[in-house]
Amino acid sequence: MNKTIIVSNRLPLQVSINDNKLEVTPSVGGLATGLKTVHKDGNGIWIGWSGLTSEEFNPELEAKVNKAVTKEQCVAVDLTQNDLDHYYYGFSNRALWPLFHYFIEYTEYNPESWEVYKSVNQKFADKVLEHAEDGDKVWIQDYQLLLVPAMVKAKKPNISIGFFNHIPFPSYEIFRTFPKRKELLEGMLGADLIGFHTYDYERHFLSSVKRILSLEVNFNKVTYNNRIIKVDSFPMGIDYDKFEQAALDHDQMNEDEKSEIQKRLDQHLQKDDGVKMILSIDRMDYTKGIPNRIKAFEYFLKKYPQFQEKIRLIMLAVPSRSQVPQYQKLKQETDELVGRINGEFSTVSWTPIWYFYRALPFENLIDLYTSSDVALITPVRDGMNLVAKEYVATRTRKNGVLILSEMTGASKELNESSLINPFNYEEIADSIKQALEMPETEQKQRMQALQKRVSRYSVKKWANEFMNSLNQVHKVYQIIEAK
Ligand code: ADP
Ligand code: G6P
Repeated sequence: MNKTIIVSNRLPLQVSINDNKLEVTPSVGGLATGLKTVHKDGNGIWIGWSGLTSEEFNPELEAKVNKAVTKEQCVAVDLTQNDLDHYYYGFSNRALWPLFHYFIEYTEYNPESWEVYKSVNQKFADKVLEHAEDGDKVWIQDYQLLLVPAMVKAKKPNISIGFFNHIPFPSYEIFRTFPKRKELLEGMLGADLIGFHTYDYERHFLSSVKRILSLEVNFNKVTYNNRIIKVDSFPMGIDYDKFEQAALDHDQMNEDEKSEIQKRLDQHLQKDDGVKMILSIDRMDYTKGIPNRIKAFEYFLKKYPQFQEKIRLIMLAVPSRSQVPQYQKLKQETDELVGRINGEFSTVSWTPIWYFYRALPFENLIDLYTSSDVALITPVRDGMNLVAKEYVATRTRKNGVLILSEMTGASKELNESSLINPFNYEEIADSIKQALEMPETEQKQRMQALQKRVSRYSVKKWANEFMNSLNQVHKVYQIIEAK
């Protein structure tokens, strides 16, 4: 039977060693949480990095890791510490990530990291080639693996290859500044189908292809090396049923079944009588607009002092890429801002910001989503933002307000949210006030419309549409070849 091979930098599970014990935890981030559902249902395999470097392995450990990974239908690619430093922390996260998110001043090009990026992409491609058989489909994910499509195509031209970019694709004027712009585009064009979350990212990519590689582009088709490559947008969704069901189960819980976090939330919501909760959840990343959010919240407390002691911002940030200096700076800035605002506004019975810097299990995410009156999502740039969709899916009583940055891919679909510009603190403050005072009927009207859309475009639909499109493209390509 033909299979689908998913390829991404991280596997959906991450292995680490803690106190000499092997720990397996789920990966965080939109890509892993989204594709996990698709992978679980299929008969395919998932190729990626396990979370440990070759230096950390000994034969006994390696056997254990392989067992844990194989159980989940995954195949691990071995990376050394040097690979990780240059390919992951270096080229992927100090060059590509900031470049694609318009942080051009953070973008560092280092030739040594580029060489390692190429060699690690080749390691991934080799692993694919080892497992791919004729008739299989290979679906390569994200900016860490931009060169893999061409590397696989070069060796097995008959295998159908899809590539999906989970982050924005920047405008030509930004992309053209990068030294390896040509090589990156050629790497991606090894795929038969290239997908983006939004039409704008697709448009930017096509414009770069046209102007940097001088290739013929006909609507959304590129002709390259006697092949036709289709480029299209597929907005990624979430596993709606899973989130909705978890929220419904949560509604039915008795006191004994509740988590410690939920008990604390209940306690505070009752004690403070009418205190409302604003929630934000993200990886600690400078693209997520975390300082903007805190400053806008401060502005809100000053502009509308009647809400002091009546409102609390719960901010959950999961540690991410903490070896990259900009992430360390952001963590420091966030700690300082939270400390300053809590110092300035707290009273004996009220702290305006509750800040958690850690990953939480799924159950606790549901506690937070279901207990919040408002979700405040303020990225300065974000490919999609699944947290916004997860919040919508968990509102079983149809109330709650989503305040969402216009700079997210999700904002293109979620029109009924309160859309804000993350750089406009006044607008954010006014949106918070409006959300807190929004009549229940209006909340429900908006939420129902959002739920209808988010439930229809689930992650399964996203994956099916991508795969169906890949099948079509490949058939057309074979017909052209036969002629
Ligand atoms: P990104 O892909 O940039 O991290 P998304 O909003 O698209 O942003 O996806 C984030 C995913 O990670 C969501 O599925 C969310 O539930 C999960 N997540 C975010 N923060 C945490 C956390 N602190 N603990 C556990 N999971 C988290
Ligand atoms: C985003 C990226 C993913 C990445 C995730 C978590 O969602 O698009 O490719 O896996 O962030 O980041 P990390 O660097 O920890 O894998």
